[in-house]
Amino acid sequence: MLDFEICNEKDFSLLGGMDPFKSVAVPRPIAWISTVSKEGVDNLAPFSQFTNVGFNHPHVLFAAQLNAEGKKKDSVVNAEETGCFVHNMVTYDLREAMNVSSLSYPSDVDEFEKAGLTKVDSNIVLAKRVKESPVQLECQYVTTVVLPGADWKSASHLVIGKVVCIHIDENYVLPNGKLDILKLRPLARLGYADYTSVTDLWEMRPQSMMKNPIPGGYSYMSPESLKLEATHKDL
Ligand SMILES: Cc1cc2nc3c(=O)[nH]c(=O)nc-3n(C[C@H](O)[C@H](O)[C@H](O)COP(=O)(O)O)c2cc1C
Repeated sequence: MLDFEICNEKDFSLLGGMDPFKSVAVPRPIAWISTVSKEGVDNLAPFSQFTNVGFNHPHVLFAAQLNAEGKKKDSVVNAEETGCFVHNMVTYDLREAMNVSSLSYPSDVDEFEKAGLTKVDSNIVLAKRVKESPVQLECQYVTTVVLPGADWKSASHLVIGKVVCIHIDENYVLPNGKLDILKLRPLARLGYADYTSVTDLWEMRPQSMMKNPIPGGYSYMSPESLKLEATHKDL
């Protein structure tokens, strides 16, 4: 067993200098965050420190470190100043565009254009959506939690947004109402420069939750799903 005590100085020489931390909570879905600045410049960048929080209301959060100059990244500044952001699902097909959008361009550069992506107006918020992304979440900015770092340039900003509109391309919805994850192939980060995408899945329902499934709950099955399951059993 290799033990690494994390102090201000991290020593990973036993691993050839490779930091294992980012490769532990994996695979990590990638938030592809579109924002708009108060000057009206559209912005797009990926953040793999990303998760959903709460279901009613649904929220998401992404976390950003500071940029090379020790300043807040544009996505954070924009979300705070214009009060919104959009998460656009990154799929395997969109991996190259996502990578281009991660470059640190100046604040007045529009990453949609750099990555050759199409903008679509949102229904509720000001930030634009990525048309090529099959699932998008419009979010109203709620708050930023600042996590102090080991030194002044290592703070993390956790940006939390309330989901106010969900957009789904109907070509990625199965007849039973579920998202067709295998067709979407969401992209995920594995630490280092390694990635994966979802290419297999199975279903496993908790027995205790099966008696009174609530619509929208984990073990709830749409009438169409139940019909499909019954057909399966008859085969
Ligand atoms: C797959 C991927 C995931 C990333 N995740 C993060 C992250 O979680 N936090 C972060 O601060 N930067 C992350 N980055 C780097 C940002 O995307 C990059 O700094 C970007 O230029 C920020 O843009 P902005 O200044 O327009 O907000 C990631 C880059 C890639 C390619």
